[in-house]
Amino acid sequence: MVDSIEEVVLLPSALVIHGPNLNMLGQREKRIYGATTLPELNSMLVAEATTLQWDLSIVQSNSEGDIVSAIHEALGRYECIIINPAAYTHYSIAIRDAIAACNVPTIEVHLTNIYKREEFRHKSVIAPVSVGQISGFGPYGYVLALQAAANLMGRSPATQSQ
Ligand code: DQA
Repeated sequence: MVDSIEEVVLLPSALVIHGPNLNMLGQREKRIYGATTLPELNSMLVAEATTLQWDLSIVQSNSEGDIVSAIHEALGRYECIIINPAAYTHYSIAIRDAIAACNVPTIEVHLTNIYKREEFRHKSVIAPVSVGQISGFGPYGYVLALQAAANLMGRSPATQSQ
């Protein structure tokens, strides 16, 4: 017997995946990647998710297999994946195939403008299976990615009022 019916509001959700070496942000090649640490970057994201009323899960892994598994587990659980595959961007067919297999809308993010750097960074095997790519805006790129995800799902404040 149900005494009272509570309204359950399901927030849209995104899985953020940080790839290898991103746990070293703030110490790693600061001239290139800046001084912001990964916990600080994640706090910015959580703040934006609160504003947009999104549910966020955040993982970081240095291992390709763990990233593939995280993408598989996103199927049916998250409406969107935001991923910085880091060095795997340039050659991981396994991560590319996982994104293609699961078909969860995926936004690729890079802190740096990969097209302005060494030639081997110019190619992304992830881009052809992503909705879009944000590259070169530092930690703010993740905030932009979350706003893009909200817009994509038609649940951003801007699209709600239309
Ligand atoms: C990166 C760019 C990659 O080329 C590099 O291997 C990284 C970080 C970025 O966020 O700018 O680890 O994905």
